[in-house]
Amino acid sequence: EEGLHPPHYPWSHSGWLDSFDHASIRRGYQVYREVCAACHSLDRIAWRNLVGVSHTVDEAKAMAEEVEYEDGPNDQGEMFMRPGKLSDYMPSPYPNEEAARASNGGALPPDLSLIVKARHGGADYIFSLLTGYRDPPAGFEIRDGMNYNPYFPGNAISMARVLFDGLVEYDDGTPATTSQMAKDVVTFLNWAAEPEHDERKKNGLKAVILFSTLWAISIYIKRFKWSVIK
Ligand code: HEM
Repeated sequence: EEGLHPPHYPWSHSGWLDSFDHASIRRGYQVYREVCAACHSLDRIAWRNLVGVSHTVDEAKAMAEEVEYEDGPNDQGEMFMRPGKLSDYMPSPYPNEEAARASNGGALPPDLSLIVKARHGGADYIFSLLTGYRDPPAGFEIRDGMNYNPYFPGNAISMARVLFDGLVEYDDGTPATTSQMAKDVVTFLNWAAEPEHDERKKNGLKAVILFSTLWAISIYIKRFKWSVIK
């Protein structure tokens, strides 16, 4: 059974010339880190990817250094732990899939790097999913450990509602309502899935300007060359 079709939300980056809202990406990273990262990996994003997007180089370095990474082997052939560097990737919450399933009643929290591209409905779907938890309608049988969500295919999801008003405290003072956090984390995950998005739109505009100029010149030359033929 299909999930409820999500409404189309007016994302500030949806226009053909609109870039991401980078303040929202920054808040969304905070939501990912403080909430989602307990269960979901983000394998394709390295600390350095945040630099100039949502954080300064010093901030990204400091955040990386708070995480311990395994490295080695050293001269003695031993593995060792060291603080993270900008080139390290986001740490995973679980060592492997078995451990992930064991902690989630058998269900696997998917890696979120490409989730906005991977799921039908993209950003609209994930926003709807995060904010769409409610009581099941009368007569809907829900297994223990499962949660009713009309947007999830089958309507029973093993992820419980995770966002509640006031869960995080944003450093820019934005009130952390459930829908604000959902919007921010989805914007962050949309950036993670399409880090080239802003550049792509900028290049698109350059291409339009370039080709329309060339087209105008060619029309001018054509009229000039053919003007002698009556
Ligand atoms: C599934 C997002 C927090 C556990 C998912 C899915 C998304 C998602 C997009 C995939 C749904 C689908 O397959 O269509 C998020 C976000 C979070 C968050 C953005 C933070 C705001 C958490 C937390 C946990 C968790 C904290 C664990 C306590 C799971 C599990 C699934 C899942 C087990 C698999 C559900 C199933 O297939 O039944 N999550 N999640 N998630 N998430 Fe989360």
